[in-house]
Amino acid sequence: MQFAKKDILDMASFSVEEITHILDTADRMKEISERPVKKVPVLRGKTIVLFFHEPSTRTKLSFDIAAKRLSADTISIAAASSSMVKGETLIDTARNIEAMRPDILVVRHASSGAAYQLSKVLKASVINAGDGMHEHPSQALLDMMTVREKKGSLKGLRILIAGDIARSRVARSNMTGFTKMGAEVMVTGPPTMIPRGIESYGVTVVDRLDDAIPQADVIMMLRIQTERKTSFLFPSEREYSAVFGLTAERMKRVKEDVLIMHPGPINRGVEISHEIADGPHSIILDQVTNGVAVRMALFYLLSGGAKNVDTD
Ligand code: CP
Repeated sequence: MQFAKKDILDMASFSVEEITHILDTADRMKEISERPVKKVPVLRGKTIVLFFHEPSTRTKLSFDIAAKRLSADTISIAAASSSMVKGETLIDTARNIEAMRPDILVVRHASSGAAYQLSKVLKASVINAGDGMHEHPSQALLDMMTVREKKGSLKGLRILIAGDIARSRVARSNMTGFTKMGAEVMVTGPPTMIPRGIESYGVTVVDRLDDAIPQADVIMMLRIQTERKTSFLFPSEREYSAVFGLTAERMKRVKEDVLIMHPGPINRGVEISHEIADGPHSIILDQVTNGVAVRMALFYLLSGGAKNVDTD
């Protein structure tokens, strides 16, 4: 299949065929990370800039490792150490980066729409690595890859997303992605964390976590985004945990083959207890492993795929 996209901005702009093609490509890329020598010359001579304006462990490292496994050169720049602290705008900074001829710019930013804005002014490909409360498409792709790998197919699965839905870019990308791929998505969380009109994503709102978990094939827990001023949305962390935390007690009522996911970072003892995060149903670290494969696939496809490169 020809992959015609210049940028990776959101899940809404992907067709089912494009998502399937990315996941199939990621499945093939995954094997490279299992080799003793984890490097192929696919993107030799390409330059990838990692432009992160918000903290990140998984996403930044994963994009960096993915690029290096394909032999691209990577350069990281953070807002705090860039000339943006002297008043340069995001667009001017990006234009100056582009003047040095990178091939792909991976951007994380606190403002929803930042990646979209950059994609409109840059010739280089832009990958959205999380923009405010809007989208985190590579996270949704790695989540779909991981569920597909474990369950064989996404079609007909019941996916429960629980927690701070309103402020979660991961939730938005996953709601769009999983429903597009034929899964049934339920969301639950405190009423203050469920945005009005969320049904337009094709999801079902379930008021109580306790009512939702016995129906779910996959439970994706989200953290409370304290950096986005959420403390006024629930009385206390203890109360949140009592009503919306995934605990050993609640796990007594899940399906026996349920998968437990979390995009990270985890707040242990708040939205998920230690024994569940580290337990037999957890695929949290599989998500992280597959993140590298998905990001390798995105770099490969944006760079022209098989017509330009060789994965041997
Ligand atoms: N899942 C995720 O985006 O994690 P980081 O914030 O560590 O990148």
